[in-house]
Amino acid sequence: MFARSLLRWYDQVRRDLPWRRSPSPYGTLVSEFMLQQTVVATVVPYFERFIARFPDLGSLAAATEDEVLTHWSGLGYYRRARNLHRAARAVVAEHGGELPADEETLLALPGVGSYTAAAIAAIAFGRRTFALDGNAARVAARLFAVADPIDRPAVREDLRARGQTLVPARRAGDFAQAVMELGARVCVTANPRCGECPVARFCKGQALTDRIPARLPRRAKKVVRLDCVAVEKGGRVLLVKRQEGELLAGTWALPLVEDVRRARLGDLREVGTIRHIFTHRDVTARVLRVRVRKVVDIPAGRWVSLTDVQALPLSSFSRKMLSLLRRNP
Ligand code: ADE
Repeated sequence: MFARSLLRWYDQVRRDLPWRRSPSPYGTLVSEFMLQQTVVATVVPYFERFIARFPDLGSLAAATEDEVLTHWSGLGYYRRARNLHRAARAVVAEHGGELPADEETLLALPGVGSYTAAAIAAIAFGRRTFALDGNAARVAARLFAVADPIDRPAVREDLRARGQTLVPARRAGDFAQAVMELGARVCVTANPRCGECPVARFCKGQALTDRIPARLPRRAKKVVRLDCVAVEKGGRVLLVKRQEGELLAGTWALPLVEDVRRARLGDLREVGTIRHIFTHRDVTARVLRVRVRKVVDIPAGRWVSLTDVQALPLSSFSRKMLSLLRRNP
């Protein structure tokens, strides 16, 4: 009766989210990729713009990677966008353009891990499976009073298996979203609202919410200092594409220099510094400027006007630097 209590609550309080309005397998694929590392409120406008530009799987598969990344610009974790694009192409090439319904086949698509495969199978196809994302892991750990660190793979598998026992035969997709909704709104990390919880009577962890979920100690972020050079020519600035295997691969950025003093660029002026916090790095970047009249051709580079960078795949990190340059002409 766990599922019935949870679904009754969900039917009353569910948020009106764009991917819930007219659900489709493709919309679920896109929303679940976006929601992999990002909260609902941030995802909503990106999802709407993305679907307006790429309304179906075929249009996404036919787009260039630059176009896809441009519509992801600012959302972070750009690997997700590149994988989503590859997944769309794989579905066209290998599955006749129809997203597969079963978890095993979904798992073989680029960027689709066990969470995303389960979420799509349940939400888009009603498959009876438990999708364990961060919210669901917290809910399950408390519900079953599992005090082991939830970021350990064996513990996650245990939580997934326990969660699986709760999934109803009907409405498995609503159930998956109800668990996430509960985690986002009631069973929150700090000061959970157990008094409002529709499944409190099933929960073994109510007295333990300050200890559950437990997590492995996080490694401190690596503090990184670096220099970037804005090479400017006639009001335009040189950007280079971040390469495969580099951080922010596929996005466009100012060239990084390892050691400015050795670079002998001459006439470098410091414009300022920006700070950006990535998942594992705390980066302070000095932005230097050099104005040139002539340059030899740079094949991986692209000259863009500082006032016209909206149509490019840029990370928030790069946007900060370009806005610093704009403010300091
Ligand atoms: N987080 C991941 N998937 C979600 C969904 N479909 N609705 C709300 N939050 C989510």
